[in-house]
Amino acid sequence: MKDQPTFFDFAAEVGLTKHIGGIAATEALIELCHIDRDSYILDVGCGVGVTACFIATKVGCRVVGVDILERMVQRSKERAAREKLTHRVKFRVADAQYLPFEDHLFDAVLTESVTAFPEDKQKAVSEYARVTKPGGYVGLNETAWLKVPPPPEVIAWAAQEVGASVTPLTPDEWTGLLHTAGLQEITTQIHTVDIQDEAKGILQRYGWAGALQVMGRMLRLYAQNPLYRDFVKKVRQGGIVPDHLNEYFGYGLFIGRKG
Ligand SMILES: C[S@@+](CC[C@H](N)C(=O)[O-])C[C@H]1O[C@@H](n2cnc3c(N)ncnc32)[C@H](O)[C@@H]1O
Repeated sequence: MKDQPTFFDFAAEVGLTKHIGGIAATEALIELCHIDRDSYILDVGCGVGVTACFIATKVGCRVVGVDILERMVQRSKERAAREKLTHRVKFRVADAQYLPFEDHLFDAVLTESVTAFPEDKQKAVSEYARVTKPGGYVGLNETAWLKVPPPPEVIAWAAQEVGASVTPLTPDEWTGLLHTAGLQEITTQIHTVDIQDEAKGILQRYGWAGALQVMGRMLRLYAQNPLYRDFVKKVRQGGIVPDHLNEYFGYGLFIGRKG
């Protein structure tokens, strides 16, 4: 691991990434983006590959996952191999803002807790639209400020929950990005966060065996790596669920169709 690891370096190392809304949110995206067995899907910011493998298994379609971190892609490939999905699920390194794909390639492009991170979010969403086939869908599941400005404790909680560099937008700003990218028939679903469901959602996505493996890696890193111990201390500072969280912070599904 390099000298100053980021939140996502550690997430890749322990093998756990997540998005708010868990499997239920992914299932909603599958439906809203009309994904079926014949679809060819791009999952941008695939993390450790849970969603890409889930969609390939549940729907039976082909999926490509990309992530900006090589270690995430490696974890994703390990998962696809474990789940015997390597014939239908491929992974590669790519930045959401510069997708290495030709125009009009995918039936749907999805992101779950990803587009809140790139510096140029409009460029990223325009890239999603570019690589989507005419008639296809772009579907985002992204964190959102439901009321602005959020208090510092809510900002700190969001950072420890989804990633230190997260910069959510308001729902209007998210739909504005889809409009500017030329997408049409935009639909939006806004949700607040249910903390208990989030905890259950991790078990649902990783299973008991997967969750125990992640905990084992966390303990090993904590014991062996002082940088990780510092990181855990910082994360714990933002760990208490703030009062009024749901007044300020939530997530949304933002879907647009390419004309
Ligand atoms: C909160 S995690 C969510 C991962 C995954 N979608 C999931 O639901 O488990 C965010 C992921 O986005 C990736 N990421 C951040 N910025 C990115 C970018 N510009 N391009 C591609 N991936 C990016 C991170 O490396 C990380 O794997």
